[in-house]
Amino acid sequence: DQHAVNVECPKVANPNMSPNIVIGNPDELAKKKAAIRAAGMSSLQVIADFDMTLTKYMVEGRRGQSTHALLSQGSSDYDRKRQELFDLYYPMEISPLIPVDEKTELMETWWGKSHALLVEGGLNIENIRNSVERGTVGFREGITEFFEILDGENVPLLIFSAGLADIIEEILRQKLHRVFPNIRVVSNRMNFDKDGNLIGFVGKTIHVLNKNEHALEMAAPLHDEEGHAVASNGNGASIVKGRKNVLLLGDHIGDLGMSDGVAYDNRISVGFLNENVENWLDTYSKAFDIVVLVSSAVSSKSQSLIKTS
Ligand code: C5P
Ligand code: MG
Repeated sequence: DQHAVNVECPKVANPNMSPNIVIGNPDELAKKKAAIRAAGMSSLQVIADFDMTLTKYMVEGRRGQSTHALLSQGSSDYDRKRQELFDLYYPMEISPLIPVDEKTELMETWWGKSHALLVEGGLNIENIRNSVERGTVGFREGITEFFEILDGENVPLLIFSAGLADIIEEILRQKLHRVFPNIRVVSNRMNFDKDGNLIGFVGKTIHVLNKNEHALEMAAPLHDEEGHAVASNGNGASIVKGRKNVLLLGDHIGDLGMSDGVAYDNRISVGFLNENVENWLDTYSKAFDIVVLVSSAVSSKSQSLIKTS
């Protein structure tokens, strides 16, 4: 049951266009591709970040919204408070100048405050449905086809996000026209009371710089031996068992930690560099096997290049 892996890496379709794909070490990438192809689809798993990796950075000329950003909690006061936090902390998130330790603390504070505001300001399941309907969010070109290919080959896809699991699942429901049994979501999961009001979050917070600490949860079962629900952000990803090759997709350096729970043989990592390109390119091209540049200046051109060919 070993199929050859046919999913090619992105190529620059037209060499006269901006160089949207950067490969730091082509020889090493070629070796990894050959090894993964030889092992076949039954050895492969895909781990993908959600916001600005599977989703678009620019949606019809507007900045795409993260799962947090699109959420309107039914109180303009609280939406404004969360927006103010975004305006303060997002520049820090993407700054190459803040040391990791310091940035980790800042991100913990940001996530802590915004989760607390969601609970305090009152959020219900209905708000989630409406927010996704109205949100500026869409999958990158080629992503739906990518999901189809993976499903067709029974390759598991783990969506590993510092965003909000409940929003991701609503986006999958609304934007895809079918259910993909091979997809699992590991993210910050909400806890609702019986009336559908948010009362808190399940497990420890996942932010952009601690994905590595949560990586093992992906393999955690949803229920313990007695059948009780396990307090974990994870989603019972036993479907990844024995799959020793990883395709990792992310837009943040911290996304590389998503595969820390996997004793992989080979990993190909793809980094989408959405902004601050000049400052980050060197770091990204050393850290990721493939860097896809999608700055807003080149976004419309580059989107056509992201497609796998
Ligand atoms: O799916 P992913 O891990 O990328 O989700 C995290 C993203 O959510 C971060 O890149 C961050 O910019 C965004 N975020 C936000 N508002 C928050 C917290 C995170 O927009 N309160
Ligand atoms: Mg992201």
